[in-house]
Amino acid sequence: MQQKKFNRYLVTSALPYANGPVHIGHLAGVYIPSDIYTRYLRLKGCDVLSVCGSDEHGVPITIKARKEGITPQQVVDRYHALIKRSFERLGIAFDIYSRTSSPTHAATASDFFRKLYDEGKFVERTSMQYYDEEAQTFLADRYIVGTCPKCGNERAYGDQCEKCGSTLSPDELVDPHSAVSGSKPVKRETKHWYLPLNDYEAFLRAWILDGHKEWKSNVYGQCKSWLDGGLQPRAVSRDLDWGIPVPVEGAEGKVLYVWFDAPIGYISATKELTPDWEKYWKSDDTKLVHFIGKDNIVFHCIVFPSMLKAHGGYILPENVPSNEFLNLEGDKISTSRNWAVWLHEYLDEFPGKEDVLRYVLCANAPETKDNDFTWKDFQARNNSELVAVLGNFVNRALVLTQKYYGGEVPACGLLTDYDRATIAEIGGIKASLEANIEHYHFREALKDAMNFARIGNKYLADTEPWKVVKTDPERVKTILNIALQITANTAVAIEPFMPFSAGKIRSMLAVDRFGWEELGSMELVAAGHRIGSPALLFEKIEDDVIERQLAKLAATKEANLAAEKTQQVEDQKDNISFDDFQRMDIRVSTILSAEKVAKTKKLLKLTVDTGIDRREIVSGIAEHFTPEELVGRQVLVLVNLEPRELKGTLSRGMILMAEDASGKLRLLEPNEKTSNGAVVG
Ligand code: 2FM
Ligand code: ZN
Repeated sequence: MQQKKFNRYLVTSALPYANGPVHIGHLAGVYIPSDIYTRYLRLKGCDVLSVCGSDEHGVPITIKARKEGITPQQVVDRYHALIKRSFERLGIAFDIYSRTSSPTHAATASDFFRKLYDEGKFVERTSMQYYDEEAQTFLADRYIVGTCPKCGNERAYGDQCEKCGSTLSPDELVDPHSAVSGSKPVKRETKHWYLPLNDYEAFLRAWILDGHKEWKSNVYGQCKSWLDGGLQPRAVSRDLDWGIPVPVEGAEGKVLYVWFDAPIGYISATKELTPDWEKYWKSDDTKLVHFIGKDNIVFHCIVFPSMLKAHGGYILPENVPSNEFLNLEGDKISTSRNWAVWLHEYLDEFPGKEDVLRYVLCANAPETKDNDFTWKDFQARNNSELVAVLGNFVNRALVLTQKYYGGEVPACGLLTDYDRATIAEIGGIKASLEANIEHYHFREALKDAMNFARIGNKYLADTEPWKVVKTDPERVKTILNIALQITANTAVAIEPFMPFSAGKIRSMLAVDRFGWEELGSMELVAAGHRIGSPALLFEKIEDDVIERQLAKLAATKEANLAAEKTQQVEDQKDNISFDDFQRMDIRVSTILSAEKVAKTKKLLKLTVDTGIDRREIVSGIAEHFTPEELVGRQVLVLVNLEPRELKGTLSRGMILMAEDASGKLRLLEPNEKTSNGAVVG
């Protein structure tokens, strides 16, 4: 098949939800790859736009607002600003970072819906949805809480149980109740508009399954399984008070479903960016590429293309590169459990190390399978790849040029076979680097880019100019000329991946930015040109820095465990009367002796002074306390519990304890010593 020729590119990156900061999982999955791709195209001189923005609608934003007692607008304002700034600081060079609460977006999404509505592209359906009569509102699945039928978690949501990870529907929850008022919801009829995806099945099959076999196997595979499973109409509206109002009569209280409006955000952002936006969205010679995470595949490959097809006039994506997930230290990254490395925190804690993160996340990107980010790997890659290879090579080439020639680039003389072989090797990398970027194999592409430095490093180690300078100074001029050409090539090759370091190399070489077409040339820095002063590109990351990060994660884990435990609180028992309570006789008592009951694992025989008398109590606490721990302690004893014979001892009372969800027991002691027999009540 003949390769299609494109005259311009439109690169989109999934719009992050503005209900939390961006973390390394987002970066590795979407934003680092899309930025590498865009920077590469720009370096090649292509006409390319990169658009992104905050996804500011949807239920989680309203939940966050409710939790914090602020408005959804305040939530998105806060996170939009934080995310936008963090991307800029990391050098993610979008042409525009917009937001779906913008007026342009509201108008664009509204018009889009209206056109489909007017042309009869939707079907209207009524269904029974959960309704909170107390709060007088329909409840999104997330707003219904109940017990998970699979694992018993009492705080499962109507769409998912976060404890066992099961996908649920509200009807599956045991004892569902509203997260808004706590009341038991009722079912009420409501009308919504649906996009009949089933009508687009044939188009999607031909377009994806026949026409885009080159898509990454995870993307193609997911599309195929959706299509093979048969498509159903999808609701494109919701009963919610946060979002873009459904622009038709009789739709009060209804907004566009967030997944209907969000992808239209790519169009609105382009509109905001340029009056020429139609050139990018409506010409066949534009290559549209959506960078997304794997949880977005169905929306970008099935739903949005069906919307575009229904609307007409728009191009479809040429590719939808999607990565798998990145884990953190072996655990799934989770915003709610704060198990993440947050971009804004990284930028604050590692100033000047933006490229280190960019490098590690690309080198370790979950391109074909889920991958793990570990701080040890981060340290190792920094120290043994960036410092020892890239930084070391560039530094040697520049320092030696300063030392031997006062910073003036020496001329290249006669080439040896080894020089020629090295130059040929350098020339050979470009094709592979380009192919890898163009096929979205960014990990391999990064290896190619680093190969320039690797080859340069080896070249200097093998030719040893610091030794040769004593015997053959002419030869050293050639060696350093070649080393400087490789340095300049390295700056070009790493630019899409590590733009800050590329800029630093250029300024140390005192040269302007090169174009991509110059990559591979051995004449990038002219003989006689004076370079700038060398500085270290990367610095070693010491163990204590990594340990601090690991300690931070350990503290998070501990806090999560504690929170989990306190959350698992037993339900309250049925009410009792005050009289019932009065009938319990609880006394402060001192444990006088304790011994294990022979042939039992759990039982201890205690002698206690209840103030009333001395008596024996057999208690099932031997697995929690040693006899020595107990003797002398003042505790609370229910003294009028009916006596019971246990293993040959008449037990007269019960020691009161607190038991948490993990089953751990704690003694209840008066906060100060008091007299035995004091009445508790
Ligand atoms: O998964 C997400 O983070 C979504 N906010 C992505 C939206 S992408 C697009 F359609 F806007
Ligand atoms: Zn569960």
